[in-house]
Amino acid sequence: MSFKCKDLLGIEYLDKKDLQVVLDSVKPFKSLFTRSVKKTPTLIGKTVVMLFYEPSTRTRTSFEIAAKRLSADVVNVAINTSSVIKGESLIDTGKTLEAMNADYIIIRHSMSGAPYMLAKNLAASVINAGDGFHEHPTQGLLDLYTIYEKKKKIEGLRVLLVGDILHSRVAKSNIWALTKMGAEVAVVGPPTLIPLNIEELGVKVYYDLDEAIKKADVINILRIQLERQFESLFPSVHEYVELYQVTKERLAMAKPKVLVMHPGPMNRGIEISSDAADSSNAVINEQVTNGIAVRMAVLYLLNPRRGNVYSN
Ligand code: CP
Repeated sequence: MSFKCKDLLGIEYLDKKDLQVVLDSVKPFKSLFTRSVKKTPTLIGKTVVMLFYEPSTRTRTSFEIAAKRLSADVVNVAINTSSVIKGESLIDTGKTLEAMNADYIIIRHSMSGAPYMLAKNLAASVINAGDGFHEHPTQGLLDLYTIYEKKKKIEGLRVLLVGDILHSRVAKSNIWALTKMGAEVAVVGPPTLIPLNIEELGVKVYYDLDEAIKKADVINILRIQLERQFESLFPSVHEYVELYQVTKERLAMAKPKVLVMHPGPMNRGIEISSDAADSSNAVINEQVTNGIAVRMAVLYLLNPRRGNVYSN
């Protein structure tokens, strides 16, 4: 898969060249943000449909703003009042939207692989806005861009992902993006929240945050997904906080210019303390701003109806 095709389903399917194309495409879109008119006519006449089966603040709003800044028409499907409630299948919902000439369908779903199913059956561009524990590619791209913008390179940087790696689609997309671009990626967290065999993705594993934090150029802190902790994967929140919360005290052990990132939404006081989240090392709000420019670039680079990736 590449940006010559119609869908963005995961960073696993992109290569280094594709990732560099995204990085190079973002800046012109970001430069619009300081102008009084922040729009371009790039997608005039195109229709972007937002199909979110799970809650979202950042991704949904960011895609909507991105599409509107490209002059597309944007439609939000309210899942709770849609015919999904009457039992309509995902593919039938997608085909219904396509019959209304949707050019792009942006989908978030709790089931890993749901965007792939839709993409296989539709000519519209399908963009994965987060599927189960699988991937969240535009979050991975905006994290990559934020690091690139701040550090002026990716290759050779040491990036530490902290916390709930097991349930995190953001972690998976970050690992694919950063390793393909030559960063040294490490993860740290309780053994129960680190997937088995993650080393096979070229990632170093730590269980001691105090040891791991010293070497990092970038720390990306993942949300403890309290809604997805089906079993007790750590003894107590209190214990997690003691061992793995990123605090101002722990940042003092890191390199002075370490970047502190979080994809949001943050559980302040659990995986990150307020003083760390609001520290001068934190680029969390810049990640959000960059998300709009990155999503503009993705919408610009994909090619609806160009051909299904699976027949290329
Ligand atoms: N980072 C992220 O995906 O946030 P939302 O769940 O608010 O979209």
